[in-house]
Amino acid sequence: MNDLNAIVLQAQAAFEQAVTPADLENAKALFLGKAGRITELMKGMAALTVDEKKSRGAAINLAKQAIEVSLNARRQALADAELQAQLRAEALDVTLPGRQRGQGGLHPVSLTLERIEAIFGSMGFDVAQGPEIESDWFNFTALNTPEDHPARSMHDTFYVEGGSETAPNLLRTHTSPMQIRYAVQHVKKFSDLANNGEGQGLFSGDMPEIRVIAPGRTYRVDSDATHSPMFHQCEGLWVGENVSFKDLKFVFTDFCRTFFESDDLVLRFRPSFFPFTEPSAEIDIQFQSGPLSGRWLEVAGSGQVHPNVIRNMGLDPEKYIGFAFGMGPDRLTMLRYGVNDLRLFFDGDIRFLSQFQ
Ligand code: PHE
Repeated sequence: MNDLNAIVLQAQAAFEQAVTPADLENAKALFLGKAGRITELMKGMAALTVDEKKSRGAAINLAKQAIEVSLNARRQALADAELQAQLRAEALDVTLPGRQRGQGGLHPVSLTLERIEAIFGSMGFDVAQGPEIESDWFNFTALNTPEDHPARSMHDTFYVEGGSETAPNLLRTHTSPMQIRYAVQHVKKFSDLANNGEGQGLFSGDMPEIRVIAPGRTYRVDSDATHSPMFHQCEGLWVGENVSFKDLKFVFTDFCRTFFESDDLVLRFRPSFFPFTEPSAEIDIQFQSGPLSGRWLEVAGSGQVHPNVIRNMGLDPEKYIGFAFGMGPDRLTMLRYGVNDLRLFFDGDIRFLSQFQ
């Protein structure tokens, strides 16, 4: 029996030393293979008597079973170790911050423009876009601001190539040119339908009211904490047969209260001057609560459209009347979010801009 015990111990030691499955299979062959120690012992039984065969055979079988148990245990241990190693190698640190692709979002001023369009859209206003390079006619003259008019000097302008010597093209200084551009297109549609036989004359037939806002970029030579050479404006125009200052007050008050989500917001229409409106007013707002509470804040210029401008729209000022306003979406954005330096909007610093998403 001692020889069997010794073989079992040797087998266990050999299995223990095996560090890979291949090592283990080699070690197994030494004991259980065709020429292995146990197989050899079996073969050696041929010479024994029947009784001797019985007892010797049983003992060899026990030894063989003991070796198999050790083999299987070692197999399992190696498999477990391999799995653990694999798990360690593929380990994920779920506490590491992910490498995401940055999520894009709308610029705060774009959010304001969308908001303006939605609110005026709900009041039946169309939204129009126009060119940023404008002619002298649309930017000034058609708006009752002829050459040499002193009001032109308020607009320190970027002139560009094109146009004429005395009236070069320019980067539009306000969105008001869109009053003329939009109205002319509108009138064209309906003056054809009305078959107005008066040729170039002013249209005095029937047409649906003009109700439009025109948001966009505008340019002036100006730069400090509250002025940027490129800034935004949003024009508003409502022309019909019966549109009055009262409508302007109602529409603009409703807009401001909706925009700032503040029902007790107060508006003040302060007399002012613009060549293209008469009478004219600056519109100031006052919050009744919050950090700006009690201060008057200017948000727009406005007025009743001047008869000369109505005429330049191709409309008969005896029949048509309306109001216009021009507001500053940049200013509205600053007020809405409590930002005190306009330049932050145009510096392109993602740390600032991402706060609005
Ligand atoms: N265009 C004027 C400005 O830029 C604002 C304005 C628009 C005033 C419409 C009256 C009517 O200051």
